[in-house]
Amino acid sequence: MKKLLLFSLLLSVIISCNENKKTSNTSTEPEQSIDKKWWKEAIVYQIYPRSFQDTDGDGVGDLQGIINRLDYVKDLGVTAVWLNPIYSSPNDDNGYDVSDYRNIMSDFGTMEDFDTMLSEMHARDIKLVMDIVVNHSSDEHPWFKESRSSRDNPYRDYYHWWPAEKGEPPYRYSLFDAEGNAWKYDEKTDAYYLHYFSQKQPDLNWENPKVRQEVYDIMTYWAEKGVDGFRLDAFQFAAKDTTFPEFPKGFEKNFIQYYAMQDGLHDYLKEMNEQVFSKYDVMSVAEGAGRTLEEAHELVDADRNEINMAYAFDGVDIPKAEGYKLSTFKETFSKWDSAFADKGWISIFLSNHDQARMVSRYANDSLPYRAPSAKMLNTFILSMRGTPYCYFGDELGMTNNPKLQNIEDYQDIAAINGYKKAKSQGEDMETFIQNLRFGSRDHGRTPMQWDASEHAGFTSGNPWLPINPNYVDVNTEAELADKNSVLNHFKKMTALRRGSDVLIYGDYALLLPEHPHVHAYTRSLGDEQFLVILNFSKEKVSVILEELGNFSELKINNYSNLNKKANELQLEPYQAVILAKS
Ligand code: NOJ
Repeated sequence: MKKLLLFSLLLSVIISCNENKKTSNTSTEPEQSIDKKWWKEAIVYQIYPRSFQDTDGDGVGDLQGIINRLDYVKDLGVTAVWLNPIYSSPNDDNGYDVSDYRNIMSDFGTMEDFDTMLSEMHARDIKLVMDIVVNHSSDEHPWFKESRSSRDNPYRDYYHWWPAEKGEPPYRYSLFDAEGNAWKYDEKTDAYYLHYFSQKQPDLNWENPKVRQEVYDIMTYWAEKGVDGFRLDAFQFAAKDTTFPEFPKGFEKNFIQYYAMQDGLHDYLKEMNEQVFSKYDVMSVAEGAGRTLEEAHELVDADRNEINMAYAFDGVDIPKAEGYKLSTFKETFSKWDSAFADKGWISIFLSNHDQARMVSRYANDSLPYRAPSAKMLNTFILSMRGTPYCYFGDELGMTNNPKLQNIEDYQDIAAINGYKKAKSQGEDMETFIQNLRFGSRDHGRTPMQWDASEHAGFTSGNPWLPINPNYVDVNTEAELADKNSVLNHFKKMTALRRGSDVLIYGDYALLLPEHPHVHAYTRSLGDEQFLVILNFSKEKVSVILEELGNFSELKINNYSNLNKKANELQLEPYQAVILAKS
């Protein structure tokens, strides 16, 4: 805490102002100048391409499907799309195992489709953020094929190898391996290679300058095509101590401390910035945000020329199954906000392709609460400071899928290998399955629900993951037609955010920190102020707030009624209200 305080004191408050990018609709110019950037003002919509829209009947989404749905995306009011990897891949980890970084996965289409998609996005003023997967490649990438072919191959040092004559390599933990070991013995050259993820995802050797140059060239290739940003997958793990010292026994329980942000990482980011980011008007976000707030700052401090925004996991590391507490949620988001109040920038999200559905994790996916609670969570994401990332389907209030019951129903390598590992270690498999039913990544990957026709309008074939049976009611067609739907609430929120500098740049202040059910805060910029009040429970609750009287303009309400008297507000279950100072 003391360290943090000292650190905050040291933070410079020199904030530059870019008048050209100004989109302010504030009546009075705020006193402080604001460092405006398009990526701070962006509302990011994350599309998992495999699950968005299939057009060729193979049960897997494709780029043509995204193109067909761009009017829908535009109509949501989002301004950028983050697309999970679409490069050639044998799909051991659904595209996070790349075999050709300059080509499109055949399941998804062709480079021509990509070019059309990008220009159609730009025609609608939608930016595109690409997922760059360069902590590792696929074992089917030509670099790895060369690398494993002989010890003196020029590509040998593109990966990490441990010759067998040195004995067993020091233990490294693999996140996806069924046996848990990140070293895999390869007979051809009698050596082990390193894979922090699956055996088909060998880690690239970032300490080799040739590897780094290859990556910058790949990024330049996409930047030249006109993409608007990069999300750096697992990048915190890229730098490694290649002497491979022994780590203490049991280190895997806290492996992030040993894997993330190792020496060299900042240098690589600076180099990437110099070679790529600085040459284009692109946004950059790395998965994860260091091990401490200080490290997160170092990554995104504009003066250091590394990346634009932190993407921290603390907020999604507090699922309900493990005793979700609103107090922890409030503390976490408030802590991250205050640490970046003067300098740096963060991302706000409650779900992505590595998480189960947010309404099932943070709120209530059963009737009659699903709709109000999904609206409440979207109100939260779109009213915090930081760039909001909205995961496809959350605008509808899509939920965890009850069809994912037994291990045979899952497709995710993390679930399948995790199951094998747990079984071999004698874990309680009933608990393991319960955890999957609550938190598996596959819940966030079941197909988009477009309409009430067979397979929810996602495919004419056999969907790669089961469609959630609630698609009959929870689908875009039905929700577009219902003015009180989660979808229409989402659109109101994006419209409000796009038009309000106060929601983008305004200061955040937590109110009622002790309230067990309500998250309330103000956002303030100049003389503008919004009050956000969110009931995170299925109870009707009452809040007493001195400042309530100052806020009389109702901006957002996910119910038709508002029970407000003097300084007291009676809230319905999961009610979400935004009021403005008049
Ligand atoms: C993080 C990605 O978000 C996840 O989906 C993937 O499995 C791992 N990195 C490995 O690339």
